[in-house]
This record gives sequence, C-alpha cells and structure tokens, in this order.
Amino acid sequence: MTQKKIKRLGILTGGGDCPGLNAVIRGVAKPAMNDYGLTIVGIEDGFEGFVEGKMREISRDDIAGIIGQGGTILGTSNKGDPFHYPTEGMNGVEIVDASQRVLKHYKGWGLDALITIGGDGTMHISNKLSELGMNIVGVPKTIDNDLDATDQTFGFDTALSIATEAIDRLHTTASAHHRVMVIEVMGRYAGWIALQAGLAGGADIILLPENPFKWDSVMRRVIERSTRGNRYSIVCVAEGAKAADEEVVIKETDVKRTDPIRFGGIGEHVAGRITLETGLETRTTILGHLQRGGSPTAYDRVLATRYGTKAVELAVNGEFGRMVSLRGLNVTSVAIKDAISKQRLVPVDGEIVNTARAVGTSFGDE
Ligand code: F6P
Repeated sequence: MTQKKIKRLGILTGGGDCPGLNAVIRGVAKPAMNDYGLTIVGIEDGFEGFVEGKMREISRDDIAGIIGQGGTILGTSNKGDPFHYPTEGMNGVEIVDASQRVLKHYKGWGLDALITIGGDGTMHISNKLSELGMNIVGVPKTIDNDLDATDQTFGFDTALSIATEAIDRLHTTASAHHRVMVIEVMGRYAGWIALQAGLAGGADIILLPENPFKWDSVMRRVIERSTRGNRYSIVCVAEGAKAADEEVVIKETDVKRTDPIRFGGIGEHVAGRITLETGLETRTTILGHLQRGGSPTAYDRVLATRYGTKAVELAVNGEFGRMVSLRGLNVTSVAIKDAISKQRLVPVDGEIVNTARAVGTSFGDE
C-alpha cells in the first residue's frame, strides 16, 4: 500500500518548557518545508491551545535564529490534558473530556499529522489521541530525564550543567563560612539531576526520590565534616526526595495540572532539621526554574535537532504512534504506548550511584 502524502503538519509543545524546544521546532520545520514542501501549523500553548483552537502557520522567519533560544516560540501549558480538561463550572473547576474538541480542530485545520514535543504527560495524551485516529509522532522532552524508552531526553544536559555550576558556586560560601549548604534541584520521581549534578559538583550528600534517606545518616555525615578540612558540607537534594519515615514535601496540589502535584520545600525541611539537630549554620538554595531557563547546551541543541529531523522522517513515512528515541549513539523510534509504560528511575545500586559512593558521597542511607 502506498502511503498517503502528508501536506499539513501540526506541531505542539506540551508540559513544562525545557531548553531545546525551539531547536526541535526548527529541526522539524526546516526539512519539512525545504525537503518535503509541507505547511507547518503551530499549535499555541500546548494541548490547552489545541482544545481552545489556537494556532498559526509557521513561516521561515519564525524559525530563523531560534536554535539557541530557551522556552518555546509556540508557548506551552501543563494544564490542558484534553481527557481531563479543567473548565469553570457552576460549582468551581469541573473536569471534562474535551478530546472531541481537539479532533474537531485537527480535522478543521486540515492536519495530516501532528508532532507532539513533551514529557510523560504529553506522551500519555498523544497515545490516547492516536487511539482516536490522529496521526502522531512524539518527541521526548523533560529535564528530569525520566522516560524509559530513550537513553536521554533533550533539556537534561542543560539542566545538569546549570545545577552543577550552582553547586560549584555554593562551595565558595560553604568553605569560607564553614556552613552546610543545601541545594534543592528538580526531579519529581527520578533523581537524575541531583545524582549527576551532585557527583559533578562534588556534593557530600545526595538525596534521591528513589532512595528514602535516614536522618541520623545525614546528621552523622555533616557533623563529621564540620570537624575536618574546611569544615563544610554540600547537600544536593532532589525535590521529590523524602526521609524514610516521612511523606514527600509538596508545595501545592492543583487539579488543573496534568500532574496535580507541585513539589518543593524538601531543601528547607532538610536544612531546618540539620540546624535543629546539629546547631551547624545551614543555608538553603532552591534552584527552581533557573534549571529550565535560558539557552540549551550544544549537546541539547544537537540532540533536539536530531529528534526534530527524525520526527519529520517518521511523519512523512507514515510511521505514526511512535516516539523518537536515543539508543546508544543512534536516534531511532519506539511505539508511544511502549514509551509510556515505564519511568526511567535512578537504580540505587547502579553504576553511577556506586561511582559516587566510591568517591565518598553519602546518600543518607548508611
Ligand atoms: O517535569 C519537569 C519539571 O521541571 C519538574 O522537574 C518539576 O517538578 C516541574 O516540571 C515543575 O513544574 P512547574 O513549572 O509547572 O512548576
């Protein structure tokens, strides 16, 4: 059977923004326009914009000079799951199924295929929309690097570099004032940023969501370090980390969000407890959205561009319901339904954790 030639290709960025989104958009749009003569339809503000009917055609001018720009020229949203869509009802926010509105716009705009760039939430939505008959190719994005079906998501390398630089800079004050410096980095369920930034920045203690920690272990390490050398400690904690006998620390719950939980506060909690139990002077830095902001690293620009061009190739060849993926050194693809079946968590007895242990890092579990 010959594949129907596609003419109009939609593109959307979903979930939290991430360095490299614009590089993917450019990586899609350039070959799509130049090699395949496609019209690119940019859907604004993620799936929320799709439901609300917000789109514009993307021109060559729109994509000029954007490879190094952070954010996304299309806008994004983490509140627009069409299958779980928040609307203002008589009794406040009501959750409705708005997926038919997406289908209506998809057909109305004459789209032949759609490229969705996003993380776990976006891929779940993409899978369900594929089942409703939309021709979708996914591109994996998230600074958390927690999608199992790819060796790396774009954006992670940039976040890791920023977090590492932040730890480097905290060393100065930690050492000069002989303090404990706690840095909270992103990572909801997977602690890849905390692990690798902690390792690269020489943190003394790394606390991961995958490895609930013991308070007495953390206290032993900071007390021991306060008596030798420059008498300071750096504690790198992922926002989703928790003590073994406690729950995760949550900032707020918002039913409008695709994932209703907003993490935040574990850094302050750890610092407060260290001060209380040891009397050591302790400070907290929450890195927050600095990790997602600004220009992508060269690695992320290259990976994002490879993902974008591969996504177009899949769309043109009619290979829908698939997500581009990095396996080893090669960009390939997997079925979206397989991509969402498993999260990529840090193996706590894995090689990187053991490497960190070998150079004396504590994970608060001894
Ligand atoms: O999933 C990516 C991520 O950056 C998480 O690490 C973090 O918990 C979350 O997004 C923050 O989302 P928001 O910008 O909506 O607060």
